[in-house]
Amino acid sequence: MSNIGSLEKRIKNFDWSISEKELDYKDGNTINIAWYCSDRICQMGKADKLALIYEGFGGVEKEYTFNDIRLAGNTIGAFLRNLGIVQEDRVCLFMDRIPELYLSFLGVLKIGAIVQPLFSAFGEESLYVRLENAQTRAIITQRKHLSKVRKIIDKLPSLEHIIIVDHKESKSLEKNEVPFNLEDATPIEDFEIFPTKANSPSVLHYTSGTTGQPKGVRHVHYSLISQYLTTKWILDLQDNDIYWCTADPGWVTGTSYGIIGPWSLGITQCVLNSGFSAAAWYKFIEKQKITVWYSAPTAIRSLMKAGDEIVGKFDLSCLRHLASVGEPLNAEAVVWSEKVFNKQFLDTYWQTETGSIMITNFPGMKIKPGSMGKAFPGIEAALLDPKTFEPFTEHGKIGLIAFKPGWPAMMTTYWNNNEKFEEKFKNGWYLSGDRSSIDNDGYFWFTGRDDDVINTGGHLVSPFEVESALLEHEAVSESAVVAKPDEVNMEVVKAFITLKPGYEPGDELELKIMNFIRKKLSPLAMPQDIEYMDSLPKTRSGKIMRRILHAKEWGEEIGDVSTLDNE
Ligand code: PRX
Repeated sequence: MSNIGSLEKRIKNFDWSISEKELDYKDGNTINIAWYCSDRICQMGKADKLALIYEGFGGVEKEYTFNDIRLAGNTIGAFLRNLGIVQEDRVCLFMDRIPELYLSFLGVLKIGAIVQPLFSAFGEESLYVRLENAQTRAIITQRKHLSKVRKIIDKLPSLEHIIIVDHKESKSLEKNEVPFNLEDATPIEDFEIFPTKANSPSVLHYTSGTTGQPKGVRHVHYSLISQYLTTKWILDLQDNDIYWCTADPGWVTGTSYGIIGPWSLGITQCVLNSGFSAAAWYKFIEKQKITVWYSAPTAIRSLMKAGDEIVGKFDLSCLRHLASVGEPLNAEAVVWSEKVFNKQFLDTYWQTETGSIMITNFPGMKIKPGSMGKAFPGIEAALLDPKTFEPFTEHGKIGLIAFKPGWPAMMTTYWNNNEKFEEKFKNGWYLSGDRSSIDNDGYFWFTGRDDDVINTGGHLVSPFEVESALLEHEAVSESAVVAKPDEVNMEVVKAFITLKPGYEPGDELELKIMNFIRKKLSPLAMPQDIEYMDSLPKTRSGKIMRRILHAKEWGEEIGDVSTLDNE
């Protein structure tokens, strides 16, 4: 039986108190996400149920029960507390998808500190700006990523502790570096969990905008109320499910639906920490008997590219429910998934800022391939006119996707940047920064972003961040970065540059520039193409017009160029 039943009928009487009741939460109570994800599940009689099934490189396998993750959270929490980390201190998780990443997430939250997960693929510059902005006090990492931290530590006076989860005695440590090996630590049975409240900060995720440095999206423990219910109703998780969320916890999907949602429901989840290949993914699904699979359009398109034949080599009949997030899910991908898996991928739409799914397809609802579906119960979604910011109801007309504030997982501010946070609201609406149309049946059809941010394979890349890295190279005079179409990733990063006098364009220089910026950016943000220009299109006031370069790449009309300075 599905959790959903006639969900559409429930929309009318929806109230978030449904979730509060199921979680035994009352206004004013203590609410700690890590307690809900581990201690409470144990108290409900599921201490011996598997919480995490992990498979890493070289076939390493590990399993953790809910009692194991409860103890690990206590043990890591106690270790951090002993170091002097207190509530609201920022603790960065900078690890591959190893078990310690998931367990540290609980440990940090148990002491009321704020967890700041970052992709381990980030280069030192990307890491630096985010640690600097958050004034992070501790970072939990692996030996393999230590060199990046060492390069920037001197510029980060707030960063007092570098905790290494896989330290080998023989290696020497530097100032501020402390080893911590969970397997050698004595498990802590009784632990005083910090009594966080609804509005206590929990998770700090960094997201890229068009201008300025990345913004730290600050979430609170109350976000659990949305994350729990959306996981239950949209991902339809039930007690005997084996769930796989393919997202890295450096990304909000990997925390809201890759840790908090499933574990607060007491569901067994799987993690595959190895490179992507269609065969490896299908084998994992078959072996672990995965029933619910939450993934992303780029991964689905990569699987499509690998062909239908390979699907037949595996028994994937265990799959019961599939969902996708992060970028537009093209209708072909939905049709393909129905053909090869006998199940459609259900598209879900949300953002780092929203903390939980906002517009979605849910089981039992009529699916229109290519549409993101409808607003989740309790979410008031509208399209606003881009000039007046007034909602309209005309069908087929494109407007700005906006939400009435007030759902539990809504961000509470951008870290140290409340001004940017305030800018996200107009006429009492939260502006998502995306555009869409809506059809007669209330289904949303995504049309694009309302800014220059590049969505490559579901990951947001700020053109500003890439342009800044390019400008630091001695040969580069000016740079402009836009999205370029791509069959699998939908968009990839393309850079246009002009050179300083004395530098010659060519492959050799391109290689040098690429090697230079690789150290600063994450692999995802690396340009796939660099084009040399004599000059970049600019407005009369000197602002580079990315729009023109974008239109050129996409073969679109250039539009109004009245402000272009073409002299
Ligand atoms: O542009 C939208 C796109 O991804 C953006 C949010 O990215 P991020 O904050 O990294 O969070 C991604 C995971 C929740 C949105 O503003 N996006 C997300 N889901 C969809 C989407 N675009 C089209 N269809 C979707 N289903």
